[in-house]
Amino acid sequence: MPIVETKVFNDTLGKKNVIHLNNAGSSLMPAVVLKAQVDHLNLEAEIGGYEASDREAEKIQAVYTSVATLINCQPSEVAIVENATVGWSMAFYAIPFKPGDRILTAEAEYASNYLAYLQIAKEKGVSIDIIPSGENGILDLAALEHMIDHRVKLISITHVPTNSGLVNPIAEIGEIARKHDILYLVDACQSAGQIPLDVEKINCDILSATARKYLRGPRGVGFLYVKSSVIETLHPPMIDLFSADWVSENEYVLRKDARRFENWENNYAAKIGMGAAIDYALDIGLENIEARITELADYFRSQLRLIDGVFVHTHCPVQCGIISFALDGLEAETVKERLKADGINVSVTTPFSTLIDATRRQLPNMVRVSVHYFNDKDELDRVLDLLRKIAK
Ligand SMILES: Cc1ncc(COP(=O)(O)O)c(C=O)c1O
Repeated sequence: MPIVETKVFNDTLGKKNVIHLNNAGSSLMPAVVLKAQVDHLNLEAEIGGYEASDREAEKIQAVYTSVATLINCQPSEVAIVENATVGWSMAFYAIPFKPGDRILTAEAEYASNYLAYLQIAKEKGVSIDIIPSGENGILDLAALEHMIDHRVKLISITHVPTNSGLVNPIAEIGEIARKHDILYLVDACQSAGQIPLDVEKINCDILSATARKYLRGPRGVGFLYVKSSVIETLHPPMIDLFSADWVSENEYVLRKDARRFENWENNYAAKIGMGAAIDYALDIGLENIEARITELADYFRSQLRLIDGVFVHTHCPVQCGIISFALDGLEAETVKERLKADGINVSVTTPFSTLIDATRRQLPNMVRVSVHYFNDKDELDRVLDLLRKIAK
């Protein structure tokens, strides 16, 4: 279904209260997503938590199918976890690195991922190599090809970084990873819900995402995809009685599906909420969502560039819903607070979130505006007017 503004606006309860431009932080849930969770919480209160998950077993299983439909994989290749970091880490720390192995990653890599590389580098004698980006910020594919040798164990890329609208060419990177038979991990935390994702086309082995951002789901839940042929080569860093069967005093047997990366207890209301959010996005269509976000973000970016004293980060030709910028002589936090006082939600991105990119490009703290399809041009014009006043 194409985007029907009135329906989408009415479904977004928070739109009455705020101009929400912090969708890269945590978006506004559609009413059905909220209801799906509240219904399950009510059921837990009425009949008991275990009894509620038993009764809703089919609905809970259907969440795996929803994720699988979203990214074009099998439900058995999906684990549902607490957030993107848990999903990413459960897979990353399962990789059997040995001394001398290399990890190739991109400049705008997310802090938590890079911290994990540093830990493994220290513990296992692995090296981290940064694939350079061209002037426009996009990863340089020729440089990547050039860097590959037999020691490269992993190519690990963030699709859309947390600090800008940059969209890395993950399918082209995937082709290179396949050609050289190298394990390929994609952090799709900021792209899931705003850009169509197809793991077959991306050619990735592992992909992680979270519910609360562009998917418009609840906080505290996310998912991990692991390709079927790779699952059994990865031993989760932490196991429990759900991910493994305890078969004798000295033996256990791991699950054969991706749920070996889950553990027993989880927040079923949030899980069901994520399923409802994915179904809502699928109903609208990810192509429609992407087109509308691109239109709104391009408009905002182009108007922003006309304001004196505004520096807009990222000039790459393909950009998504995230726009980061700085205003001359004003702290990003001050701008955020000024906007907040007018009922406008934005966030601040600091160099610490993407240190390599920020250092190379000498980026300051920046205001991050992240638009979604439920935003509209009137809202953006109000924000732009205010920014013109603030910038004076
Ligand atoms: C690119 C990227 N990856 C990973 C994460 C971590 O996601 P989560 O907080 O759900 O673990 C974020 C969060 O902002 C992110 O922007």
